[in-house]
Amino acid sequence: MKIIITENMGEFNKVAADIVSRQIKNKPDSVLGLATGSTPLGLYAMLIDMYKKGELDFSRVKTFNLDEYRGLPKDHPQSYYHFMYENLFNKINIKDENVNLLNGNRDESYRECADYEEKIKAAGGIDLQVLGIGHNGHIGFNEPGTPFDSVTDLIDLSERTIEANSRFFDSPDQVPRQALSMGIKTIMQSRNIVLLISGNSKARIAAKALNGPITQNVPASVLQLHPFVTVVLDKEAAVYL
Ligand code: PGA
Repeated sequence: MKIIITENMGEFNKVAADIVSRQIKNKPDSVLGLATGSTPLGLYAMLIDMYKKGELDFSRVKTFNLDEYRGLPKDHPQSYYHFMYENLFNKINIKDENVNLLNGNRDESYRECADYEEKIKAAGGIDLQVLGIGHNGHIGFNEPGTPFDSVTDLIDLSERTIEANSRFFDSPDQVPRQALSMGIKTIMQSRNIVLLISGNSKARIAAKALNGPITQNVPASVLQLHPFVTVVLDKEAAVYL
């Protein structure tokens, strides 16, 4: 694992944006795996900036998002579909047909998940997967205990995740209880991974995931087994490393 500790969020976002933009410049038809959450927001803002300055072209880039809530309408302000269009896709020249998000409203979720796996394969696999980490070590919505060989599936969210995500909803009972998520094996099949960890509330889980034992109880610890992972942390998230 390559670990980069940054001084502040400006540098954190810049390092992450350099990794993603290098990928797109080296391979203009890159397949990117993307994440939602607060952590990658600064990265997305920088990518938009680079696009506006004419430094980046997304016209041939394909994307696959990690996860989506089950049962939220696409245009719900908290759907990940909405998040991605608001915070990135509406502001760059990516083509709609190159954007892939799990459909959380299809009746047969298992078909949606199997189709998603097929679509990733048909696209040639993911070149670079951007990841955040949950306070419980989840990646995507793969909660502690998820087998390392899991593929894209319907997931029951843990109480910890529901509580963490309730900050975006009017009340905790509005947070969906289920989500569709790429599996751990799906994530591990990406050719390169960049894991973003920021803030002191993530410091303990960062140390467990990066330096602790590789265990299904800490899903992100599986990344220690991947040959091409870069972890970008800000100073606060790195205090226990
Ligand atoms: P956050 O979410 O970036 O909002 O902390 C990360 C995650 O839960 O994976």
